[in-house]
Amino acid sequence: MRTIIVVFLFVFSTMSIAAQEKHRHHGKEGKVQLTPEIRQLLRQEMQEIRAGMETLPFAVASADWPLIESTARKIQQGYIMSEKLDPAQKQALHETLPHRFRQLDKKFHYYAGMLAHVAKEHDAELANFFVYKMNESCTACHSVYARDRFSGFEQRNRHETHH
Ligand code: HEC
Repeated sequence: MRTIIVVFLFVFSTMSIAAQEKHRHHGKEGKVQLTPEIRQLLRQEMQEIRAGMETLPFAVASADWPLIESTARKIQQGYIMSEKLDPAQKQALHETLPHRFRQLDKKFHYYAGMLAHVAKEHDAELANFFVYKMNESCTACHSVYARDRFSGFEQRNRHETHH
């Protein structure tokens, strides 16, 4: 897992994200420059997150608390801003990632942690809420930083009249 995290440090240091932020509602701003190997690693990590996410709705629907908790913890701990980073790595990451990206990642982490917490308390309503908030975090980040990968974000949102 540590290897993946170090790779992420490198991955995101190669992104020209500041420029993307400025024009987030127009054009190809989600483009990220990655070597094929690194892109592959990033996608593997994302696929793991996806697999976890896909089990959650039914796990909640069937009140499988241990499964919800372990899945949420796995997502929480496996992701980019993991607490496993040592201080030097954290510092590097802090300087590399744009503020907005870090905020999105932090929120995503927070919701995964909260889901694990409410699963422990057997609270189905709050579990549904935090699954929803986690999914919202995916779209929040992808719509800015993964627009090339998910071309649907390029299409106009018909519910937003002000853009
Ligand atoms: C803080 C940012 C961030 C968050 C949060 C995030 N992702 Fe991603 N994700 C990315 C980026 C950047 C890419 C594009 C990688 C690339 O260039 O292919 C991506 C790509 C992916 C991919 C495509 C991987 C592939 O094989 O091509 C999947 C699947 C994915 N994310 C799932 C998720 C899910 C599900 C969530 C929420 C539970 C999520 N991600 C949350 C940043 C994020």
